[in-house]
Amino acid sequence: MIPSVQGNAPDLLRVEGLVRHYRGDAGIFSRHRHVVPAVDDVSFTIGRGETLGLVGESGSGKSTVGRLIMRLDDADAGRIVFDGRDITDLRGQGLIDLRRRLQVVFQDPYASLNPRRRVGDIVGAGLRAHGVETSQSGLRDRVAGLFRRVGLDPGQLDRYPHEFSGGQRQRIGIARALSLEPELIVADEPITALDVSIQAQIINLLLDLQDETGLSYLFIAHDLGMVRHISHRVAVMRRGRIVEYGPVGAVFDDARHPYTRALISAIPIPDPDREASRRQIAGDDGEVASDAKLREVGRGHWVLA
Ligand SMILES: Nc1ncnc2c1ncn2[C@@H]1O[C@H](COP(=O)(O)OP(=O)(O)O)[C@@H](O)[C@H]1O
Ligand SMILES: [Mg+2]
Repeated sequence: MIPSVQGNAPDLLRVEGLVRHYRGDAGIFSRHRHVVPAVDDVSFTIGRGETLGLVGESGSGKSTVGRLIMRLDDADAGRIVFDGRDITDLRGQGLIDLRRRLQVVFQDPYASLNPRRRVGDIVGAGLRAHGVETSQSGLRDRVAGLFRRVGLDPGQLDRYPHEFSGGQRQRIGIARALSLEPELIVADEPITALDVSIQAQIINLLLDLQDETGLSYLFIAHDLGMVRHISHRVAVMRRGRIVEYGPVGAVFDDARHPYTRALISAIPIPDPDREASRRQIAGDDGEVASDAKLREVGRGHWVLA
């Protein structure tokens, strides 16, 4: 069990022993369907105002963790506790109420916006559905305010998604996530699909919003460089399991798991001297033993042993 790093402050989110298995395709000669352990005994906490960076190569289970927390998918085992309340099996109105407090920003700003709806309607849909703003003019004012907050021109709220660039679309996605003033945003690779030149703008926007509102992020990424810049703590996932977890400084300066070191060694380093001395550390190819347990190696720094 991973303890809270916050001391006595209650965690906003606590995930305990989360498991999600998917049934893969059965092979032609196999009588048994192959079971993919997408998420296998994952535990972590996120404090208020904190960013947890969740990193790992493609297919390691990061998005599945995000979907489970958002309750867009059901866990096979484990517990999700949000602000002291067990939300693992929440249904109906309870789940609708949770949506106000827990929002998601998706990776693909093209696929995640309905092309047939005006962007103002997309951003205002949550406010309308939750009855926060019922009058048409009040709704328009609020959406215009959200547009300004994310750096979009409120004069454009009657336009359609295809009229915006990738970065602007991601701002629309962020405005939609912000509209109900959530306490936690799951940002699933929010900049991966964007031009490098605008990635930093979106990251800075997310950081500014956190400063203003004290919201928490689960920031999912495979690019460790960005994660280092914005996270308070980091969890490294591999094959469905967390192999390293701790304060950002400890994980980056004193990575203990070979897989974390391999990920770090793949970070592009702009300084030519450091680039020259950088060594690629090969990741180990061994299976993660199913009885392996996280072991504390420093203050709040855990490694799968
Ligand atoms: N709906 C699904 N059905 C079957 N397998 C899935 C499904 N979603 C994810 N998986 C599998 O679970 C594993 C983890 O996927 P995912 O969480 O998307 O990883 P990541 O986000 O780290 O790239 C992968 O092997 C993927 O193929
Ligand atoms: Mg993913």
